Amino acid sequence: MEDKFDIEVLLSEEQIDQRVSEIAAEISEDFAGEEVMLVGILKGAVIFMADICRKLTVPVELDFMAVSSYGSATVSSGAVQIIKDIEVSIEGKNVIVVEDIVDSGLTLKYLLENLWSRGPANVKTCVLLDKPEARKVDVKIDYMGFEVPNEFAVGYGLDYAQKFRNLPYVGVLVFHD
Ligand code: IMP
Ligand code: MG
Repeated sequence: MEDKFDIEVLLSEEQIDQRVSEIAAEISEDFAGEEVMLVGILKGAVIFMADICRKLTVPVELDFMAVSSYGSATVSSGAVQIIKDIEVSIEGKNVIVVEDIVDSGLTLKYLLENLWSRGPANVKTCVLLDKPEARKVDVKIDYMGFEVPNEFAVGYGLDYAQKFRNLPYVGVLVFHD
């Protein structure tokens, strides 16, 4: 049987653009005179990262990691495995991990421990959406876009079964019979 649902707009394109500008200004100020390396977590962070990096005023490098967490389309299970790693050393660099959403926190916690073990100067986190009600482990979010309710979000990079990443806004799935 197919899932039946509507997508309700949670954050408009304009709201996101405004917030992305604010975060980029904050990062640019915090790292003035330095360089940063953005590490985007595929695939959800792609749109957010593309927008944020173009608003930074400090020199920036881009790289990507992909992780798999085993679970159903809407529930993340916690087991994390790196399926694509960054391609360069981050030793001595200012790394900012860019994620679409922090749910249980397990993915970001794992990535932070992994990246810190490689001898960077710094590792910060930049997350578009924070779902605090779903948190299972503590994880520090340095740059946060929006707090969202414990519902399933799609759009602006976030998917439901790989669909809807291309929506220019963030919506939530509202299931019905
Ligand atoms: P966590 O490890 O539970 O924090 O899960 C983080 C990952 O689960 C994110 O990078 C997303 O890929 C996925 N995820 C969690 N919540 C949502 C959601 O509401 N919509 C889309 N993906 C989600
Ligand atoms: Mg993700």
